[in-house]
Amino acid sequence: MDQAAVVFIFSLLLIGLHSSPSVKSNNWEIYSFHINTTVTSRYAITVITSRVANSRDNSTEIDFHVKIPKTAFISKFRMTIGEQTYDGVVKEKEMAQQQYTQAVSRGQSTGLVSSVGRTLEDFKTSVTVAAHSKVTFELTYEELLSRRLGKYELLINAQPGQIVKDFKIDVNIYEKTGINFHEVKGSLGEKDMASAVTTTRADEQVWVHFYPTRDQQMQCDGCGETGLKGNLKIHYDVNRPQSQGDVTEHGGYFVHFFAPVDLPRIPKNVVFLIDQSGSMHGRKIEQTRDALLKILDDLAEDDYFGLILFDSKVSPWKHELLQANHNNLKRAKDFVRRIVDRGATDINAAVLKGVEMINKHPRESSASILILLTDGDPTSGETNQGKIQSNVREAIGKKFPLYCLGFGLDVNFEFLQKMAQENSGVGRRIYEDSDAALQLKGFYEEVATPLLTSVQMNYTGATNLTQTTFSHYYNGSEIVVAGQITDNNINDFTTEVIAISKHNKVMYRDTTPTKDEKLPADLSGKENFLQRLWACLTVKQLLEKELMLSGEEKEAVRKMVLDLSLKYSFVTPLTSMVVTKPEGEDTQVANKPKEGEKPPITSRRTMLKLHVQSSPSMRLAQHGPGYVLPQSRQGKAMRGSSGGGAGGGGGRGRSFQGPPGFSMESHSHFLSMPALHGVASRSRPAYPGTDFDLFDDVPESAHLPLATAVSATLTPGTPVRFLMTAEGQSLPLCFDIPAGHSVRLLQDPTSGLSMNGELTSEGGNGFQRIIIHVNASMTIEFDTVKITVKDGQDTVSFMWTDKDADHTTDSLSLIIRDNEADITMTTIRAVILLHWQDGKSFLWPAVRKRPSENAIPGIMGKLPVAYEEIQPAKLRIQGQEVDATSDSAKDYSIKAAPQVRCQLVELKFALQGELSEFTVLQL
Ligand SMILES: *[C@@H]1O[C@H](CO)[C@@H](O)[C@H](O)[C@H]1NC(C)=O
Ligand SMILES: *[C@@H]1O[C@H](CO)[C@@H](O)[C@H](O)[C@H]1NC(C)=O
Ligand SMILES: *[C@@H]1O[C@H](CO)[C@@H](O)[C@H](O)[C@H]1NC(C)=O
Ligand SMILES: *[C@@H]1O[C@H](CO)[C@@H](O)[C@H](O)[C@H]1NC(C)=O
Ligand SMILES: *[C@@H]1O[C@H](CO)[C@@H](O)[C@H](O)[C@H]1NC(C)=O
Ligand SMILES: *[C@@H]1O[C@H](CO)[C@@H](O)[C@H](O)[C@H]1NC(C)=O
Repeated sequence: MDQAAVVFIFSLLLIGLHSSPSVKSNNWEIYSFHINTTVTSRYAITVITSRVANSRDNSTEIDFHVKIPKTAFISKFRMTIGEQTYDGVVKEKEMAQQQYTQAVSRGQSTGLVSSVGRTLEDFKTSVTVAAHSKVTFELTYEELLSRRLGKYELLINAQPGQIVKDFKIDVNIYEKTGINFHEVKGSLGEKDMASAVTTTRADEQVWVHFYPTRDQQMQCDGCGETGLKGNLKIHYDVNRPQSQGDVTEHGGYFVHFFAPVDLPRIPKNVVFLIDQSGSMHGRKIEQTRDALLKILDDLAEDDYFGLILFDSKVSPWKHELLQANHNNLKRAKDFVRRIVDRGATDINAAVLKGVEMINKHPRESSASILILLTDGDPTSGETNQGKIQSNVREAIGKKFPLYCLGFGLDVNFEFLQKMAQENSGVGRRIYEDSDAALQLKGFYEEVATPLLTSVQMNYTGATNLTQTTFSHYYNGSEIVVAGQITDNNINDFTTEVIAISKHNKVMYRDTTPTKDEKLPADLSGKENFLQRLWACLTVKQLLEKELMLSGEEKEAVRKMVLDLSLKYSFVTPLTSMVVTKPEGEDTQVANKPKEGEKPPITSRRTMLKLHVQSSPSMRLAQHGPGYVLPQSRQGKAMRGSSGGGAGGGGGRGRSFQGPPGFSMESHSHFLSMPALHGVASRSRPAYPGTDFDLFDDVPESAHLPLATAVSATLTPGTPVRFLMTAEGQSLPLCFDIPAGHSVRLLQDPTSGLSMNGELTSEGGNGFQRIIIHVNASMTIEFDTVKITVKDGQDTVSFMWTDKDADHTTDSLSLIIRDNEADITMTTIRAVILLHWQDGKSFLWPAVRKRPSENAIPGIMGKLPVAYEEIQPAKLRIQGQEVDATSDSAKDYSIKAAPQVRCQLVELKFALQGELSEFTVLQL
């Protein structure tokens, strides 16, 4: 109360603010910037933590400025100044608004959140920090990743605004049916930056670490003195062992992921309605022509199609649907090439004509789709938007979906979105940009392959279900239904999916929900993620539904959204987060602008009017009945559920892939330096132009082969087991080194740096001592108690138990936190992890950024070895036949130390050299 004089708010709607990342690096220093994302069953929770020091003699205003995905909800914000924490509290928007207004009238307000682009929005705040004090900002946001074109995408933006000595992104993905491919993309994951990425995979889990050095933070594309600027995109897909989908149950809630693949495509009847009004003039109409030509090329011969151009007149190419055979396509393309822009916009007449054409063409076993592309409001014929909506709704009569693509920012997107949602489709924005043709084509591809129509998901023994009817299911997408299990009684719970496929009615039943015994330990202690997933999906869908309602129904839905948002502390269009700040500080308002709202042009503070609308979900969900009132019953937290876990699926490419067996039966370890990109290249589905955010979708480039690993076993004197990435194989190699040896881990011939380690002599599974020789005068020594830096005559020591210990010189940064020491030099970034097992502690090294792409001396300097499995228990390595046993090892290069399967071979085959070549007499 006393400490908290002022209030700052972020809500999803107002706006204002200037968006240039402020560069005040000389005033204050971000000494640590961490992004940590945990994905469990597609539900991603990201925490951004920025620690900033004011090193000046005066108090200074310190900014926190990040970009988060538009599709996410902020769920937590905290500032810590000294011992004092300031937590955000989610309140009803109106209430928050009142406080905000009072603050405004006192002249204390500044804006907070704004839209930045297609996929991200800005979050920004600041606080005044006293001389020589520190502040920690922590922002959490949550989102349900949706599947598009065969994969999920986790997008992480990093733009701290200055070079940060301790910058890192850690991602852990857990999917119980197993991850069948993953790739790291985006401007931060490719090209030169790829060497800062390490990925490790153990069946159901993938870890991605992005640890750039300071040099890399300046050198990447678009980066410079102000540090990193770009996106990391992690794409992945999961195994689908059962076509009826996968049901996970956790703490009284369930989620059903349904995406069968073993179905024939259903031929489609598709009509394209193309706006050729005057506003389409120039590049837009050219891009539309380009996209249509490509789309026509992709139609299958058993598809039927129609083309309708409209301005103030409606001009169908032909008055009926034609088969997509060679001749018809050729003529259609000639027609498309001649499309030019003309008059006004008669949306009403155009859509009705399209509906008429489809209705005139009844066809067994086909799926009809209407796609409208427009860049403006209706200006001709019927212009009353409500009237158009009801005309269209009546004409379509729920028989097929209408997709509305709004081209550019001048369209009334809300109108298009409503119209699409009322007709089981979605509204999508096409951004006016050089890649607009690709965006159009990408959208088309999402609906190009219908596999099921009239999908009805039935559940008994469950309540509070999210949407359960879907007009179409397309290949590459996924249907998600979540709900509560009645009385938490799993025995009475059954599922049933009824749908129409190409040839017949199909039914999938009895997807047995499985408990997940294998939920990673770091998840079990947390709030029930499945309940949050359910709440997040429910809120999203209700917000879409609310758009189409009016009067009391609308109010009722809004009430539900509000209750859920408050309960789960989501910042949605109906809620705001209020944060108290130190006495005398400005109030701030963060606004989630409407989808498509133009970003503020200048740094002027602009207040936009309140609007109730969610940013449209990009999911291809169709609307339907089946909203049961969401109201949360507290579920008992219990371990998650585990499914078939068929695992295996096998990684591809060069990066290290650990197979199934997240089991605990054996103790060994592993340290890997997996190649980053390997996986991607082979298994990436070829969907050209898929990505709507193409700017940093850099073409695939150099696949750096990186490698190597380490590991040990428990009993005294037992050898330590090392893992080693294998090129082109999902299973890594592993090999043992007898306890007690001292080995060369890495030696960089260019800088002279070397790292050696002494294996535990009894008990423990790794190293008891590791030394990094930086140069003739400087060493860093690690044992299980302390870390000692010797620089000439100077010696500094830190204990592992020290909180946030930090040692920085011009060319070295050493940070010790949470049993992890992070060492950054010009050419290398490494971490030394302190593990505890069975009461023994030991060290494990991991190289997060290699000094060289080539092989260098040392166990961890090796490049991945290629092997070939010639028969069970026999591998061919470098032309030699080698005995191998299927075994496992723990990957101690990751905090969680997952168990991974490996091919156990003799050391000399894995390292292509004798042990003596890797041992040192003295550390
Ligand atoms: C601190 O601020 C005061 C008043 O703003 C100014 O006069 C003084 O020069 C500042 N001192 C430093 C070290 O910046
Ligand atoms: C659906 O997509 C998968 C790849 O994601 C592909 O293997 C399969 O053939 C597709 N099915 C049809 C009917 O096109
Ligand atoms: C499935 O749900 C639909 C719609 O609620 C209902 O008409 C149908 O009877 C249900 N089928 C079964 C087998 O429960
Ligand atoms: C990331 O967050 C998870 C969940 O809070 C936590 O268990 C894990 O230790 C964090 N990882 C890092 C590297 O901080
Ligand atoms: C959820 O279901 C239970 C049991 O059917 C019901 O009592 C509760 O009101 C429902 N919650 C909401 C928000 O509808
Ligand atoms: C050794 O390395 C440290 C840190 O990189 C540097 O400060 C020091 O000048 C170097 N000393 C010599 C003799 O090269």
